[in-house]
Amino acid sequence: MKFCCNSIFLLVRPGIAIGIICFVLITPVNAQKASVSKKISPDLFGLFFEDINYAADGGLYAELVQNRSFEYSPTERFGWNPLSYWEYANPGFSYGQADVETDAPLHSNNKHYVVLSIEHVGHEKGYTGETGVGLKNTDFDGIVVKAGESYNFSFFARQLSDAAIPVKVSLQKRSGDLLASAIVSVNSKEWKKYTAILSATQAYDTASLVVLATAEGKMAVDEVSLFPQKTFKNRPNGLRADLAQMLADMKPKFIRFPGGCLAHGDGLNNMYRWENTIGPVEQRVQQRNIWGYHQTAGLGYFEYFQFCEDIGAKPLPVLPAGVSCQNTGGTWRVGGTGQKAIPMEEMQAYVQEVLNLIEWANGPATSEWGAKRAAAGHPEPFHLEYVGIGNEDKITPEFEERFKMIYAAVRAKHPEIMVIGTVGPFYEGEDFDKGWALANELKIPVVDEHYYTDPRWFISHQYRYDAYKRNATQVYLGEYASWGNKLRNAIAEAAYMTALERNGDVVRMSSYAPMLAKKNFTQWGTDMIFFDNTTICPTPNYYVQKLFSANSGDTYFGNVVSKDAKDSSLAASSVQDSKTGDIILKLVNYDSASAKTMNVDLSKFKIVQPGAEKTVLTGKADAENTLEKTDNVIPTTSAFTASKKFDYEAPPMSLTVIRIKTK
Ligand code: AHR
Repeated sequence: MKFCCNSIFLLVRPGIAIGIICFVLITPVNAQKASVSKKISPDLFGLFFEDINYAADGGLYAELVQNRSFEYSPTERFGWNPLSYWEYANPGFSYGQADVETDAPLHSNNKHYVVLSIEHVGHEKGYTGETGVGLKNTDFDGIVVKAGESYNFSFFARQLSDAAIPVKVSLQKRSGDLLASAIVSVNSKEWKKYTAILSATQAYDTASLVVLATAEGKMAVDEVSLFPQKTFKNRPNGLRADLAQMLADMKPKFIRFPGGCLAHGDGLNNMYRWENTIGPVEQRVQQRNIWGYHQTAGLGYFEYFQFCEDIGAKPLPVLPAGVSCQNTGGTWRVGGTGQKAIPMEEMQAYVQEVLNLIEWANGPATSEWGAKRAAAGHPEPFHLEYVGIGNEDKITPEFEERFKMIYAAVRAKHPEIMVIGTVGPFYEGEDFDKGWALANELKIPVVDEHYYTDPRWFISHQYRYDAYKRNATQVYLGEYASWGNKLRNAIAEAAYMTALERNGDVVRMSSYAPMLAKKNFTQWGTDMIFFDNTTICPTPNYYVQKLFSANSGDTYFGNVVSKDAKDSSLAASSVQDSKTGDIILKLVNYDSASAKTMNVDLSKFKIVQPGAEKTVLTGKADAENTLEKTDNVIPTTSAFTASKKFDYEAPPMSLTVIRIKTK
């Protein structure tokens, strides 16, 4: 087979690199001989969650108030300030003032709060509408209120004048009409948490939360929060149920979090430090998100681990390797030399921070860090197996020195933990080579490869991993995607994923990236799931990931499907899931014009039940889903009659998954 595509294109993406990618001619000459059967990784298909594109705040994290703790700042975005996304409200000819203050804050990590001075509450004759002095928040493009559902409101407040102050909390339409309301009385001179339940009888997609002090006086307000009661699994401080369910439906074997570039951060002060993200939400350290917005850390390490547990996925936290992103300060434009390293005199403390995570996740509730997990409501361990150290860092001497320290400490104290190293942001190049050399030197169990490129690259490089050394460092393909969310992109990825299964003895894990993107709030164009406040749009790429992940196996059979070996548009794999005994075939045809036949031979299996199931994802190569029309490309499932030998005609531009029972 020859794949002849020598096109060259320029790849430009924020914060990363400018590179020139050249399609090389890869032929199966290098390919490992298709073995009859072999064990493959049971963790092959998982998810990568990064807080990019408002994936956390405004996305998966179900909080409905934006800038709930008044910590937005102009250092995060030009024009932002602690009152961003809040409006001063003084209906009914009331008057007073709202000021941001920092003396005696709720917590030293949560410095800003608002003081409401209520001079006059308008009760003028004949006036019947809302009245009081306070604040209004419309979240991200409005709060979605569902009929018949209840919302948990809370805020911290402190009475600054003598008498208690009644506060009316409501969800309002744009017209000002009320959707739900409740009254709380601020009656303490110390910071205190007040709660109320807002129950809506009507649905409304663009509501505001209005908090109005309705008596004269003065009070301080902070951490104003509103959550739907129906979060995923009804967890407090939980996740948006529909988005989380869409991820759960994929049956991912693991979740990597919190990034990506977000993990190593834009400079030393921007590194994601896991210890800052646990404990009471109002005490967590918030920070500038590397992707240009604010990160509340409300979705922090506890919530990530809890979500993993809730959906049966292994947690894979990624911690910085003691260095920041090499693209810090936009240095990707000039070659990526902005990497900053934690000073060596601070490294012991940093290494301890990494070890603390393992104790926090797995240690007994009686241990120092295990006790913090237990205090958060999870006395049982989280069974952490994997820890990623570094994210596509530039492999500099500073990186190597720090990585080695962390790696040695984890190995010495926790040999049971599998460390995942990093080999740069591309499928080849200097950092790739140096990262792999380091992996070989240190015998790192797994390294994390990343690449985003043209769909044709995925087709022409299907044999990449067949040439990798066995019984050595394994690969976690932690970030990959072909540029685009059209069906052709997804099918190219499907072809590549059959190769990941074929090489599931060397490729231990893989995850598409990025995962989530909120409409009008994106920093990265090609993503797996798009959403707005009401609608979710799974891309064809999502369906491909789901079909592989929900139909994974632990044994690979190399001689079940035969096809024209010269035809690079055809790809196939066959695996068996030992739990069910099911054989799962994945058959890919990347040709956009012609259906093509593949031959299936299951005669090695004693029993092949005729009653099988077939799921097909197919359509026009350029078809894609949109938030306006989410079902242009969706898989269809139907009954299939299997036999020991059959031919299968794969439709043009398609992935077919056939699940056959052998018991
Ligand atoms: O997935 C988006 C970004 O791509 C990640 O943050 C980074 O690791 C990669 O460069």
